Amino acid sequence: MKSSLNIVTIILCVWLSWGRTDGAQKRESGEVSFHRIQASSLFPSPSSSCVLSPRASNTKSSLHVVHRHGPCSSLSSKKADHDEILRLDQARVKSIHSKLSKKLTARDRVSQSQSTDLPARDGITFGYGNYVVTVGIGTPKHDLSLFFDTGSDITWTQCQPCAGKCYSQKEPIFNPSSSSSYSNVSCSSPVCDSLTSQGLVKQCSASNCIYLAGYGDKSFTQGFMAKEKFTLNSDVFDSLNFGCGQNNQGLFTGIAGLLGLGRGSFSFPSQTAKTYNNIFSYCLPSSPQYTGHLTFGSAGLSNSLLKYTPVSTVKDSSSLYGLDIVGISVDDKELKIPLTVFSTPGAIIDSGTVITRLPPKAYAALRTAFKEKMSNYTAAAGLPPLDTCYDFTGVESIDVPKVSFSFKGGTVVELEPIGVLFVADRSQVCLAFIANDKDDDVAILGNVQQKTLQVVYDGPGGRVGFAPNGCN
Ligand SMILES: *[C@@H]1O[C@H](CO)[C@@H](O)[C@H](O)[C@H]1NC(C)=O
Ligand SMILES: *[C@@H]1O[C@H](CO)[C@@H](O)[C@H](O)[C@H]1NC(C)=O
Repeated sequence: MKSSLNIVTIILCVWLSWGRTDGAQKRESGEVSFHRIQASSLFPSPSSSCVLSPRASNTKSSLHVVHRHGPCSSLSSKKADHDEILRLDQARVKSIHSKLSKKLTARDRVSQSQSTDLPARDGITFGYGNYVVTVGIGTPKHDLSLFFDTGSDITWTQCQPCAGKCYSQKEPIFNPSSSSSYSNVSCSSPVCDSLTSQGLVKQCSASNCIYLAGYGDKSFTQGFMAKEKFTLNSDVFDSLNFGCGQNNQGLFTGIAGLLGLGRGSFSFPSQTAKTYNNIFSYCLPSSPQYTGHLTFGSAGLSNSLLKYTPVSTVKDSSSLYGLDIVGISVDDKELKIPLTVFSTPGAIIDSGTVITRLPPKAYAALRTAFKEKMSNYTAAAGLPPLDTCYDFTGVESIDVPKVSFSFKGGTVVELEPIGVLFVADRSQVCLAFIANDKDDDVAILGNVQQKTLQVVYDGPGGRVGFAPNGCN
């Protein structure tokens, strides 16, 4: 008993002194592994005015990415409600997990396709949908704010006369009869036939092609499959397929529709591939006070800084972008997580999921390491499902542990401090990661973690790339 205690003491002493020298040396050489940030940078003043991204202002194939609540948005000045964000985010993740785990039985599928009100319920819900871009539709051009979503393909907007139902949106609802470039897609066209293979429901009304897209929960859009002119900043596309929604319902409030950036053939990058070569990139801003950008083609890519990892195909989804996470480091120290913890469920990158979801064992290892590094700060109550929170009242600077993800191909991506934390308020700042319920639920790289990175989707290269400082 005594000797085993001694051994423990020796090990502890060796470990502690080794840890101390390591830290001291790093501090002396100026090579610190954490990020020291001013606490005030996490809490932008509510009265701050909008700062536009120079990248989006100066690139012709680039759009400003705007947070839907904040000084850059014309949609709503309402402050984001954290409980609502987390609740809607949880719903999106649940819909992704149930779609990919095929929890629906064959009987569920049949009853869904026969149901008149809510077919195709196995789509992915919008979630919180925090980022919006403005795209011009029709002739004359009608500007509309659309969510952008790498998790789905079809682009759609609400259309007059809203034969079924339209929810309320900020901008006037698009009226196809006042656009000279609008045309209906016919029911017998190959485009209409391909709806089913793209995860949509095909219907016909007289000779017109009708699409129906379900987004899980009770959200859906249904209407004419149509062709229209799209204007992106100064680039014009004459005849892109889109959904002219006559019957729309769900949590899309205020926003006119969706810009689909998935991998499928109906997505915006696929349809504009002749011009942009199926390449796009974006940067999500550090706070709602700034705009980021969504840029099509290879304009402005930080070629020398970009690190790529291959995109993998996700079983049961032609839209989602699969990635292979192979490890996580905290302050440059790789966490001990067996590779199968990541390889069994696989992972995706998603612009529409807010908080990154990790396999339970990976999350546990990350939380332990993070808590250890944050032990000098006052713990605060959890903000479910976030369970590791701190009270920074009166704290001037914060040493945020450096969190890096390693991907297949040796690519290591270091997250910005703002990509590690979810800020409710000064007295409640939480580790912005959530454990999946089950070991085989897919991991999801969410949009908090992507903040300020340049994220590149290179279709022909079959890869996704990351570079730091992507919004500048
Ligand atoms: C598209 O179809 C609808 C429904 O039949 C019709 O009212 C509308 O005029 C058509 N639009 C065009 C441009 O043909
Ligand atoms: C906590 O604070 C003490 C005293 O300032 C410091 O020596 C120690 O390194 C800090 N611990 C961590 C984990 O930063």
